[in-house]
Amino acid sequence: MSGKFNLTVKVQKLLFSINHIKVKGVTIISYKQLDSTNEKAKMLIAEKMLKDKTVIVADEQLAGKGQYGSKWIAEPRKNLLMSIVFRPGFLRIDQQFFLNMAISLACRKAINNFTSEKVWIKWPNDLILQHKKIGGILIEQMITGQKIDYSIIGIGINVNQQNFPDALPRASSLLIIENKSFLIHDIFHELLSNSLNNYEQLQAQNYAEIKQDYLNHLLGFGKTQNYLWNDKRIKGMIEDIDNNGKLMLRIEDKVHSFGLKDIEWIPESKNL
Ligand code: BTN
Repeated sequence: MSGKFNLTVKVQKLLFSINHIKVKGVTIISYKQLDSTNEKAKMLIAEKMLKDKTVIVADEQLAGKGQYGSKWIAEPRKNLLMSIVFRPGFLRIDQQFFLNMAISLACRKAINNFTSEKVWIKWPNDLILQHKKIGGILIEQMITGQKIDYSIIGIGINVNQQNFPDALPRASSLLIIENKSFLIHDIFHELLSNSLNNYEQLQAQNYAEIKQDYLNHLLGFGKTQNYLWNDKRIKGMIEDIDNNGKLMLRIEDKVHSFGLKDIEWIPESKNL
């Protein structure tokens, strides 16, 4: 996908001071500390204070949210914690997985600039390097009638964190993988530019291209892997993603469709 957006603003100081910048229709608000950038976005929406393409970024979250009601734990000032708010009125509710694909791809491409390792997307939107999760995306939609009124796209990238709690054995960071530290604002800048570009692709309805790109970077696509299904270890191969974002997995001679919590991938390191 072509890179049209080039944010000319200098965001170097942004992450370490409370700031409010508007550039090319994008509003960037940064905080030293928040409970959660996604929750802050919701508050601003409720106060009618938030426009399309607003980005909220924090140095630290006290109550970061992960998928399935989990917590997102990240050491202060060492990681990228942000939410991008779009108002994708052009997208039908049954097309919302395309937004997930577009943003996952934007994150993947951004991270790819900072590592020589292959960056994978684990369905639906985990960012994987060397079989470890270095980032995650939590998309919360606010729907009115049949329309997506607001999409709050929360992104957490583990950048300079060296140690993770024992409870997160599969977490890693760019620092651990590349053995050097990174400037968080560089990653922020790259990620935001890519997200805006891919959002434009979505607006242009380049659905087939987005999906093909997503499948090309999807961990386990066209490859037999181990999964946990109803407490049983099975072998399956991802054949496709349906329009609702469900995983189409070939198990023996049949293709099954799985929702978010229906199946668990067993990482390759554990496949040995
Ligand atoms: C996941 O569980 O994989 C999704 C993690 C998403 C974390 C980010 S950090 C910034 C934003 N604010 C939150 O509270 N969560 C998301």
